[in-house]
Amino acid sequence: MRAIAISDFGADPELIQAPEPEPRPGELLVRLRAAAYNPVDHKIASGAMKDRVSPRFPFIMGQDGAGVVTAVGREVSGFRPGDEVYGRFTDPPRGLGSYAEYGVVAQDGPVARMPKGMIPEQAAAVPTATGTARDLVEAARLDEGQTVLIVGATGGVGQSAIQLAALRGARVIATSSPGAEDLVRALGAAETVDHTAGPVADQVRAAHPEGIDAVLDLVSPAGATRPLEELLRPGGVICSVLHALDPDALAARELRGVNVINRLTPQVLSDLADLIDAGRLRVRVQAQVPLERTPAALAGLATGHARGKTVITM
Ligand SMILES: NC(=O)c1ccc[n+]([C@@H]2O[C@H](COP(=O)([O-])OP(=O)(O)OC[C@H]3O[C@@H](n4cnc5c(N)ncnc54)[C@H](OP(=O)(O)O)[C@@H]3O)[C@@H](O)[C@H]2O)c1
Repeated sequence: MRAIAISDFGADPELIQAPEPEPRPGELLVRLRAAAYNPVDHKIASGAMKDRVSPRFPFIMGQDGAGVVTAVGREVSGFRPGDEVYGRFTDPPRGLGSYAEYGVVAQDGPVARMPKGMIPEQAAAVPTATGTARDLVEAARLDEGQTVLIVGATGGVGQSAIQLAALRGARVIATSSPGAEDLVRALGAAETVDHTAGPVADQVRAAHPEGIDAVLDLVSPAGATRPLEELLRPGGVICSVLHALDPDALAARELRGVNVINRLTPQVLSDLADLIDAGRLRVRVQAQVPLERTPAALAGLATGHARGKTVITM
């Protein structure tokens, strides 16, 4: 099968021919029609997460994907060939990932039936980004009438976080660089802040001197969250996807801090599919890239200026 792989940490991604994986007991073999790019794919490939991810090389990049089950291993009961599924297809110790024509996933792993109204090129964009947005909104326990600032709102996670926060009845302030305001407002943001025009915290404080209830931070590294924390009312909550927070220090200041790590479950994928099918959640695919052009496209994606998701087509 064709796949995009790296020969070592830090090596350039290349189009390779790899053996089609065999489904093990309890696994599904899926003919992937699409995969999605997530920033973590670059972080893993660079070796920045090698304490947690130990792949066999050549290592096929990518996690998220969607396609059709073509075979099942022994002891699989919940799925059969022909089922359209989406989820996370990665097994680093076997060198497997989702930028490939075939992927495997455990039947009780991060996989579920695809949203009915989606094609694979849309469904592949959902798992990690929208799953993380859902984890953020849950961790913040957002409620009707609360005001939440989303920093990094124009990217894959942010666009879903805006919608999921608004669905809970929260008033969303979204960061946006010039030209993206209409996009985030269409997703449900009530206010926008131009993060290229000056410090976000200063702009939000000027508009909300009384403070806000929550911050979902997709951007700030450790050591850079203090100005955002200071926007919160007593009892407020800040959530980071970059492990930037010290929850104990925040608790001492009557604030809640949550470092969110995405844990994608079949239930989350099913819940997201229901929201999508009900027309309550949209996922914007910004670009589609054929598999063979992915190595060149990945260099551009590393700059991190996404306006939605980039999907790789097989
Ligand atoms: N902990 C976890 O489990 C987990 C899960 C998923 C993602 N993540 C991490 O979360 C981050 C976001 O992921 P993503 O998929 O949403 O990335 P993405 O699709 O690449 O989007 C990044 C967005 O951030 C915006 N941005 C960059 N610098 C900014 C700033 N200073 N202020 C405001 N916005 C800024 C960019 O807009 P501009 O073009 O305007 O700069 C872009 O729209 C990544 O670092 C990713 O690795 C963590």
